[in-house]
Amino acid sequence: MVEIAILGYGVVGSGVAEVIRRNHDSIKRRAGKEIRVKKILDIRDFPDSPDRELITKDPDEVFSDPSISVVVETIGGTGAAREFTQRALEAGKHVVTSNKELVAAYGPQLLNLAREKGVYYLFEASVGGGIPIIRPLARCLAANELYEITGVLNGTTNYILTKMEKENMDFEEALKEAQRNGYAEANPAADVEGHDACRKIAILSSVAYNEFVDYREIYTEGISNISAADISYARAMESSIKLVAFSRKTPKGVLARVTPALVPKGHPLYNVEGVFNGIMVKGNAVGETMFFGQGAGKLPTASAVVADVIDVVKHDGSGIGFLTMGEKAGRLVDINEDTGRYFVRLKSKDLSKTRELVLKLYGDVKQVEPTGAPGAGGGYGVQNEFAFVTPVAQELEHMQKLSDILQAGSVFEAAAKIRVLDK
Ligand code: HSE
Repeated sequence: MVEIAILGYGVVGSGVAEVIRRNHDSIKRRAGKEIRVKKILDIRDFPDSPDRELITKDPDEVFSDPSISVVVETIGGTGAAREFTQRALEAGKHVVTSNKELVAAYGPQLLNLAREKGVYYLFEASVGGGIPIIRPLARCLAANELYEITGVLNGTTNYILTKMEKENMDFEEALKEAQRNGYAEANPAADVEGHDACRKIAILSSVAYNEFVDYREIYTEGISNISAADISYARAMESSIKLVAFSRKTPKGVLARVTPALVPKGHPLYNVEGVFNGIMVKGNAVGETMFFGQGAGKLPTASAVVADVIDVVKHDGSGIGFLTMGEKAGRLVDINEDTGRYFVRLKSKDLSKTRELVLKLYGDVKQVEPTGAPGAGGGYGVQNEFAFVTPVAQELEHMQKLSDILQAGSVFEAAAKIRVLDK
């Protein structure tokens, strides 16, 4: 029998207890031993919970109990979670977590401490909810030079954008529904402004490239500026708008960004809808691989946590579970050196003058008209607009051209500048 403790009885923590209860027999078969939750640490009271007998407010009941060999940290954040993780590792207990904030900020230090103590620090659930992705990157694809990751990594924003696209829901309504379903972070800005996806691409890149990618350096834009009109244009281009996290290993270092992007029909990420996540990974031997599944939510995320617990139990002492996120190798590639295409909407006082200027600066671009809008676009406020897709250029060049357009006078606003995702 292996006894474990859960720190934090929130959405994921309570899901871990539930998965262990519900799948008791199959988990025992797979792990080769029975896994039992002995204690749950939380400062709150849960009088109606089926686990109420296990809940304690006293950390010593977990850390000073030698019979508890695995600690599941589902508190989140970098405060108490960090202190308790260190304490558990120092005490020679394995730690399994879904905490992307902690892994993204302190992963290398915690992994080193774990290795020193001969225990594992596993974080499969920190990215992609229930999708296996950390272990595939670290083990199954280990023979490759992995060089590119493109992912829809935040279930909440994808849920919001899908609802806006398919059900004409407004942003606030869709966000509330995501929160009700337990997908969103306590502070929705973490989802909506792209910070959550940023931490996740940092973790994936660090594991895949074995080079620590600091999330604080990743260029990040959220979805709060995406409007119903943008979505109607996307429809016209047979594309879908998603929050896309991207990284590539280049000879100059790692390039990484999180931005909304137009994903064209036919791209492997196009059909990643709702709370689902999709992650495309490229390696020099395997080529292109794709991972897909529920990226948020109680039981999908809990299932990834419990899979790590099973791994710990099966491989305790063998060293097979040691992960690495590498050392910091220098600054990320300057985002101004990134290249790509953009969809641009210009609000103009003089459309023919604007068209002329755009053609002069960009060459022969194709104008885009929105579709599906009530009142032929009028309902979305897209009158007096010139919208088009740019050719491929460097970020700095795009910025310069846009600034030239705005200074020329006929355009009073760039209503949108959204990246187009090329494969
Ligand atoms: N808020 C996160 C998301 C939860 O929506 O993807 C899973 O990490």
